[in-house]
Amino acid sequence: MPSPPRVRLLMCRPDFFEVRYVINPWMDGNVGRSAQDAARSQWQALHGRLGEVAQVELIEPRPGLPDMVFTANAGVTFGNRAILGRFLYRERQPEEAHFREWFTGLGFDVFEMPPDLPFEGAGDALLDREGGWMWIAYGLRTELDAHPLVARWLDVEVCSLRLIDPRFYHLDTCFCPLEGGWLMYHPPAFDAASNRLIEARVPSERRIPVSAADAAHFACNAINIGQRIFLNHASPELKAALAAAGHEVVETPLTEFMKAGGAAKCLALCVGEPRPSRASAACEVQSDSVHLEGHLLDSGLLDRALDVIVDGGGSFRVMEFRLGRQRQSTSRAEIHVSAPSSDALGKLMARLADLGATAVPREEADAQLETVTGTGVAPEDFYATTIYPTEVRVGGRWIPVQDQRMDGVVVIRGEGDSAEARCTIFRRLEPGDRVVIGGAGIRRVRRVETREDRPAIAADFAFMGERVSSERRVGLAVERVAWQMHQIRGQGGRIVAVAGPVVVHTGGADRLAWLVREGYVQALLAGNGLAVHDIEQAMFGTSLGVDARLGAGVRGGHRNHLRAINAIRRCGGIAQAVRQGVLESGIFYECIRRDVPFALAASIRDDGPLPDTLTDMIRAQDEYARHIKGADMILMLGSMLHSIGSGNMTPAGVKMVCVDINPAVVTKLADRGSVLSSGVVADVGSFLSLLVERLRHMESGPMLYRADEPMAV
Ligand code: ARG
Repeated sequence: MPSPPRVRLLMCRPDFFEVRYVINPWMDGNVGRSAQDAARSQWQALHGRLGEVAQVELIEPRPGLPDMVFTANAGVTFGNRAILGRFLYRERQPEEAHFREWFTGLGFDVFEMPPDLPFEGAGDALLDREGGWMWIAYGLRTELDAHPLVARWLDVEVCSLRLIDPRFYHLDTCFCPLEGGWLMYHPPAFDAASNRLIEARVPSERRIPVSAADAAHFACNAINIGQRIFLNHASPELKAALAAAGHEVVETPLTEFMKAGGAAKCLALCVGEPRPSRASAACEVQSDSVHLEGHLLDSGLLDRALDVIVDGGGSFRVMEFRLGRQRQSTSRAEIHVSAPSSDALGKLMARLADLGATAVPREEADAQLETVTGTGVAPEDFYATTIYPTEVRVGGRWIPVQDQRMDGVVVIRGEGDSAEARCTIFRRLEPGDRVVIGGAGIRRVRRVETREDRPAIAADFAFMGERVSSERRVGLAVERVAWQMHQIRGQGGRIVAVAGPVVVHTGGADRLAWLVREGYVQALLAGNGLAVHDIEQAMFGTSLGVDARLGAGVRGGHRNHLRAINAIRRCGGIAQAVRQGVLESGIFYECIRRDVPFALAASIRDDGPLPDTLTDMIRAQDEYARHIKGADMILMLGSMLHSIGSGNMTPAGVKMVCVDINPAVVTKLADRGSVLSSGVVADVGSFLSLLVERLRHMESGPMLYRADEPMAV
C-alpha cells in the first residue's frame, strides 16, 4: 500500500484555454495558434503524472478566461492562510473572484492585496525548500510593495528578487527551489543585486544554473515533489546536473501552453504547504515618499525620476498628480518610492533629491553639526555635497552653502544671524571646524526645469536607439554648442576647455588652436600629454611619431616626441619657447600669445615632464579649481580623467559639454545630473572641425543643421 500523498495541488482543465490576447512575449505571434486537442492531451498527461505523487484538486474552468489553467497565479498559501492573486493585467482580473471562492470554500483564511497592488501568487512567490523563507519577485508583474504584506500575513521572511527580462516575467519561469536546498535558476533573468542575494543565500555547490536554451524550454518552470522534477523539457546536461543533485527528471511536453507563456509549474498550484517551524515575519523592503514640482511632463522630469527609481532597482506609485494647465504653470506629484533594502532606498532618495525631489515634509530640524578633531579628517557621519545649490538649516534659518562643489563637506562658521556655510574638501579641514553630519536640515535647491531645457536632453541623451542618426545628432549638438559659445564670448563670459591628447591624434589641434586664437577659450586644463603632443605636432608635424596628414609613421618619428620635450626643457618652459621663437604654432603657442592661462596636471606615465607641468597634484587640483571658478561653460574634449576631475569642482548651473568617442565617459559625466550638461558621443577631431566651421559662419551663414530637416552635409 503506498502511503497517502502529502502534497495537494490545484489544477484547472484547459476547456477554454487558447491564446486570445498578448500579455507576455511568448503570446506575441501566437494568438489563435494553440491547438485545442493537443493542449487537452498535454494537460491530461501532466495531470496523470502528478496524480501519481500528489492529491490533485480541480477548479471549474470558466469561458472567456483562457489563462485560468495557470492556477499558479491564483494566490499563494502557507499553512491555512491564503493570499489571493491580484492580477496586473485587466484580461486576467476576472479570475480573482473564482479563485477567491475556491479558497474560501476550502476554509482558508483569505488575505487580499489592496486594489492596484499587483501580486501574481505562486507564479512570483516561491518558498525556499530548505531555508524556510519565501523568494518573491518584483519588477514585471508583482509590485515590491506587496512583499511586506506577504511577510506580515504569512509570518514569513521574504527575499525580494528583481526580474529584468520580459520573457521571464514570473519568478517560476526562471527560478525553482528544489528539495534539499538546491536551486535551479537562470541568472541573467535577475539584476545584479538579486544575483548577489541569491548567491548569499544559496551556497554555490547547491546552485544549478540553467542555460538560456533550457530556460527557453521552460526547464525552470518545474514542479518538484520528493525526488521528482516534472517539467516540459531539459537538455541532457541539465538532466545530468539534476541527477547529480539526487533528482529525477520527468519530462512531459507542454508546448501548447508555452504559446501562452506557461508550462508545468504554472499549471498547478501547491496548496497547504506546511509552515516551516522557524519562520517569522521579516522583509527588507523600505519605502518613503517624495514631492516633485516643476514642468514635470514637458521637461521630462517625471520620466527621469521614474527611470531613476526603476533603474535603481526600486518601484514607485504616483500617489497624487496635479497637472499645471498653462505652459508656464508647474505640476506637482507625490511619488511613493520602494526599494528592496534601506541601503537601496537611501541611494534612490539621494538620486531623486539630485533631480530636485523633496522629501514629503516631516518635522523641520536644524542640521546636525560635529566638530573636527584631526586636521584634514571629517567626522564619520559627514554629509557629502553634490553640485547642486544647497541650503542648511542653522538656528532655525536656512542659509545657502557657498562654493558649492561635489564630494566635499559643509563647514559652518559663526553663530546666529552671522552663521555662514561653505563647501570644503577634507584636506582643508581644521580642528574646531563644525561640519554638517547626517541628513537632517539639508535641502537642495533646483532651478525649475523648463520646456526649453528639454531639447538639450533629447538631442544628446536619446542617442541610444532613436530615429535620428548619430551623425545628425552630432550636427545638432554642434549647432547648439556653437551658439552657446558664441553667446558667451559676446557677453565676455568664460569658457574653460579640458582636453586630452586625443585632440591632437584625431587631427583637432588646429581647430582647438583656432578656438583659443579667436577668444573662445579663457582657460585650458590638461595634462602633460596634450602639451607634448601639440608641441611635437607644431615642431615636427607628427604626434607620437605619426604624421597626422599621412596617417603613417615617419622615419625616426618615435624620437620626435622626446625631442619636443627636450626642446621645451632647454628653453625653460612653453612661454620661453614661444618667446625664443622655438615654438611657432599650435594650441599652446596660441595660449601664450593670447594670454590664455593653462594648467597641466602630471600623471605617473608622463614623459619629461615639461617644466610647466604641475607635479604636485594638490597644487594641480587647486589650479584647476581656480580656473573653473566663474566659468560659464566647460568644454570637455576626450579626456576622462581631467573631465571628471573638473566636473567634481564645478557647481550646477555651469554648462558642461562632454565630447568623447566612448559613450561610457559621456554617460559618466552626464550622470552628474545637471540639466545643463550635455554629452556628445563623437570623434573629438570631427566634432572640433564641425564646431569651428559652424563658429566661422555664425554671423553670416545659414544654420548647418535643423532638427526638422534631414542633414544637408
Ligand atoms: N498567459 C499567462 C500570463 O501571462 C501565463 C501565466 C503563466 N503562469 C506562471 N505562473 N508563470 O499571465
